Amino acid sequence: MDRRNFLKVVAGATVVAINPSLIGGKLYAADGRLYVAYEKTQLLDAAGKPIKASSLEQEVNYVFNYPYASTPCILVNLPKPTQQDVELTAENGEKYVWKSGVGKNRTIVAYVAICTHQLTHPTPNDSFIMYVPQKTKTMAYDKSGVIVCSSHLSAFDASAGAKVLGGAATQPLSAVVLEHAADDTLWAVGILGLDKFQDYFKAFKPELKQFYNGPAEAKKLVSISAKTVKLTEFSKDLIQY
Ligand code: FES
Repeated sequence: MDRRNFLKVVAGATVVAINPSLIGGKLYAADGRLYVAYEKTQLLDAAGKPIKASSLEQEVNYVFNYPYASTPCILVNLPKPTQQDVELTAENGEKYVWKSGVGKNRTIVAYVAICTHQLTHPTPNDSFIMYVPQKTKTMAYDKSGVIVCSSHLSAFDASAGAKVLGGAATQPLSAVVLEHAADDTLWAVGILGLDKFQDYFKAFKPELKQFYNGPAEAKKLVSISAKTVKLTEFSKDLIQY
């Protein structure tokens, strides 16, 4: 486990530092409502082999579903180390701290790919939300190397906990808390930030039926492992402005 991947949760004026060995649903439920521990889940490739952090291509969008069978998350290996201890604010005013990316150079990040504005997300048909590599232009922000939702041009800072940089979104994307193990494997362990999962389940019932055999299957919690593929393999059409 990468011991740097601990969290600081800000509750009111009190800053609570928590070592990852102490991470547990009860602990966080008491100390910070904006972190929820889910089942520790290993990221596997399409062939069922463990994803190695060092094998992730730089600036490529990967997708896995977590913590529910139907909730897509984007995984990116950024070109530079992320910022550290970034203080973020949820739309209800609660503050929380995103610790950093993981991996040898702190470049690997994962975020729930459900836009916090109006819930745009990748489907097998298309994706309007994705990380835009540094050399690709976007209309959403004056610099690329950011996550963009092209539905209404919101931009999120991939290297700073998905902080909002511009557009209609009023809070960061929820972050997937990752662990990087000593054998270079990657694990999802929880979600940080004010999530939109229940809104998503309510808004997309027909879609959940079409792609995930209905709401009950769609709301099943992921356990043990999550298949991780490139966004180009997950969605037929990628739309990016
Ligand atoms: S839904 Fe993403 S910017 Fe509106």
